[in-house]
Amino acid sequence: MTTADQRPETGDQSGPPPATDIALLAGHVGQLVTIRGWVQHLRSSGKVRFLVVRDGTGLVQGVLVKGQLPDVDFQQFDRLTLESSLILEGRVRAEPRSPGGFELSVNRVEPLQIAQDFPIAPKGHGVGFLMDHRHLWLRSPRQQAILKIRDEVCRACRDFFHDRGFILVDTPILTPTACEGTTSLFETDYLDRGKAYLSQSGQLYLEAAAMALGRVFCFGPTFRAEKSKTRRHLTEFWMVEAEAAFFTLEDIMRLAEELVRAVVLKVLHQRAPELEVLERDPAALAAVAGAFPRLSYGEALARLQEQGQEMTWGDDFGGDEETLISQAFDRPVLVHRYPRQCKAFYMEADPENPDLALCVDMLAPEGYGEIIGGSQRVADLNTLLARLEEHKLPQEPLEWYLDLRRYGSVPHSGFGLGIERLVGWICGLKHVREAIAFPRLLDRLYP
Ligand code: 4AD
Ligand code: MG
Repeated sequence: MTTADQRPETGDQSGPPPATDIALLAGHVGQLVTIRGWVQHLRSSGKVRFLVVRDGTGLVQGVLVKGQLPDVDFQQFDRLTLESSLILEGRVRAEPRSPGGFELSVNRVEPLQIAQDFPIAPKGHGVGFLMDHRHLWLRSPRQQAILKIRDEVCRACRDFFHDRGFILVDTPILTPTACEGTTSLFETDYLDRGKAYLSQSGQLYLEAAAMALGRVFCFGPTFRAEKSKTRRHLTEFWMVEAEAAFFTLEDIMRLAEELVRAVVLKVLHQRAPELEVLERDPAALAAVAGAFPRLSYGEALARLQEQGQEMTWGDDFGGDEETLISQAFDRPVLVHRYPRQCKAFYMEADPENPDLALCVDMLAPEGYGEIIGGSQRVADLNTLLARLEEHKLPQEPLEWYLDLRRYGSVPHSGFGLGIERLVGWICGLKHVREAIAFPRLLDRLYP
């Protein structure tokens, strides 16, 4: 934080005043400051010129009154265009009617670069155009608000796990095998060693780390060559995953619920102004304070059938079914114990009904779909070997994973939370593509 008090005591106070974040102007009322940023708005009225400047921390209106600053500086105003970069010097005044609550009586204007015609106007562009200009679109108030909320979500996830004694372990992105089914693998040549695949999930490696450290988490990009062109699917998305030795399905369900509650409440507390920019009603999120409802797969299926859905036992739920199930609740719902046949090879069977997996999906309300997937893991070596065969997965590249069942295997469980899905719901976005700075989609790799 830069403040006037930190000015070097050179005895010479005639240099430029200290550079200040716009967000910190409240502490500088009456003082001369320097602001560095981009022009967001320009307006003239008689002998007065107004410009709104953005520096990433906030907005401030600068006022130039002819005769009250050097003519050369006053004239610089006429060169300015939207998104030009500049340095402004002026005295801070409290001005409740101004954006941010302060104004700058400008006495010096130093353009750094005069911007060409900015391609994005406040209104009237299609999504394709905006996505092609994503690198510039990020400057809009709405996109800034989403990025700040995403930052808060990521920080809250890390804090949550660290506060509970989980150790961060970074898992590899280049891997020799699939984790979540072979249909959505991104393949690449790995030097002279054959094929490598971009990680779909850090889970398998996290299981190894959990046998060393007990409770662990990872947080990184994951990749799925999803052929599905929906508002919930990215080909590159960020996942925070937890894995804990001796945790049961029940333990992991509770942990997942506590995580989502902690993150959403943190955003409500820290990012109210950004939610307002997004016109997101905080009441739609505040219900996370209460206990999350729980349904077994069987109960969820019965509800769908009552609503006229033609589904039979064993069918997996797609996006539409998830929306129908979650519509009954004002907060996320935990759906547990799906049929094993529609889930991954590593899930433990329910001892009370071996056709079911000890697994859970958390479905967000308002049609945002699955935000968390998790399960208890197969702990027994022979069971796991049988599963690999059932799923036609090769044993050799997974020998290391099998070792975890040979050397001190214990019951353990974990889950993964999709960051963009959670951010999408919190922000009330129509599509996850806005929940990440540079989305990667089926049909998009630019910019
Ligand atoms: O349910 P998934 O596939 O679970 C796993 O990958 C487990 N190995 C996690 C674990 O137990 N450690 O994915 C977890 C979450 C989903 O609930 C969803 O939020 C998100 O990742 N996700 C996607 N988000 C955006 N685009 C996609 N294509 C996604 N696929 C999954
Ligand atoms: Mg899943």
